[in-house]
Amino acid sequence: MRRALIIGGTGLIGRATASRLIAAGWQVDLTGRDAARMPASLTAAGARFIAADRSDAGAVRAAAGDGADLIVDCLCYTAADAAVLLPLARASASTVMISASAVYVDAAGRHVNSDAPPDFGKPIREDQPTMAPAADGDYQSREGYGACKVAAEQVLLDSGAPVTVLRPGKVHGPWAARPREWVFVKRVLDRRPAVFLARRGADVAQTVAAANLAALIETAAVRPGRRILNSADPDAPSGLQIARTIAGLLHHSWDEVLLDETADPALGRHPWEARFPIVLDMTAALRLGYVPAGDYLTTVAAQVEWLTSAAAGLQGADALAWLSDGYFDPFLDYAREDNYLAELAG
Ligand SMILES: NC(=O)c1ccc[n+]([C@@H]2O[C@H](COP(=O)([O-])OP(=O)(O)OC[C@H]3O[C@@H](n4cnc5c(N)ncnc54)[C@H](OP(=O)(O)O)[C@@H]3O)[C@@H](O)[C@H]2O)c1
Repeated sequence: MRRALIIGGTGLIGRATASRLIAAGWQVDLTGRDAARMPASLTAAGARFIAADRSDAGAVRAAAGDGADLIVDCLCYTAADAAVLLPLARASASTVMISASAVYVDAAGRHVNSDAPPDFGKPIREDQPTMAPAADGDYQSREGYGACKVAAEQVLLDSGAPVTVLRPGKVHGPWAARPREWVFVKRVLDRRPAVFLARRGADVAQTVAAANLAALIETAAVRPGRRILNSADPDAPSGLQIARTIAGLLHHSWDEVLLDETADPALGRHPWEARFPIVLDMTAALRLGYVPAGDYLTTVAAQVEWLTSAAAGLQGADALAWLSDGYFDPFLDYAREDNYLAELAG
């Protein structure tokens, strides 16, 4: 039986990947710090949890043992992380490192975390320039995230080991640490009469279902190689299309308040804001034989279902941990919206 090890495996990407690989007949081991986060459904399907902190190189090595047919690293953020992964990658048939499309820069050097928004002008291919690598940067900062990912990518790719670097867009799926779709699900649960969208909801920031990432990981596993691949949904929905998709899935109707550039910039904000479209070109993955699990509409249903059940308290308190960090507050400023509507009416 082929064995896969998923480092940081009990989260969004790891769960989807484990489910997919188990269905395809793999033995799957998942690492994490907290055994309580191991999904019962995966344990029941034969997956094993291994406690190993990513910062403990010995524990990560022990989890890999003599190597695996596939190693997936969901926690490789820096060159130092990559250096820990490298000997495991050399001993394994195929390794997938989860990087990010945040590494790309446009002709003016702007990236998705810049103050000035990037303008790529067309779908981004893997040969698009990236940020300069930062071997010692702060990967948790806006400037450091992409630069540290590039440094990690280079350690792995320069080694010649069979490592596939994946550069996903904005990932969606059940158990997301920051489920962006909540901004629209929450509005439906609150029976809001209107959805507000800045720039008429036309912004596009590439999405990717964890299920599509998992499909690409399986493709890379059966075709080991040293390469970089984008990971994206087959479509690239706009903010307006995402709002409509979610309202449709939840059988809700609302007025769409499509704001133009003159509107209060605090109104109509959402997590897919992008002054210029950000779309990933998937030609390279498709050439390798990747078949997506589904488009945005098909795949986002799993996350919407999970969010409604978590909000109803059916998934345990852990499922809502992300609610407390304030990230969603600027997207759900109902008082400001009500004032706008009252002024309009009055
Ligand atoms: N989400 C996105 O939109 C997005 C976009 C592009 C790229 N990415 C990349 O995707 C990766 C994150 O994957 P994900 O979204 O699946 O993450 P996730 O949902 O946050 O899951 C992370 C997993 O790693 C475990 N973990 C966290 N810290 C750990 C540590 N120090 N040692 C061992 N285990 C640890 C967590 O469990 P415990 O906490 O119990 O340990 C959990 O199982 C990152 O490399 C990120 O750069 C994400």
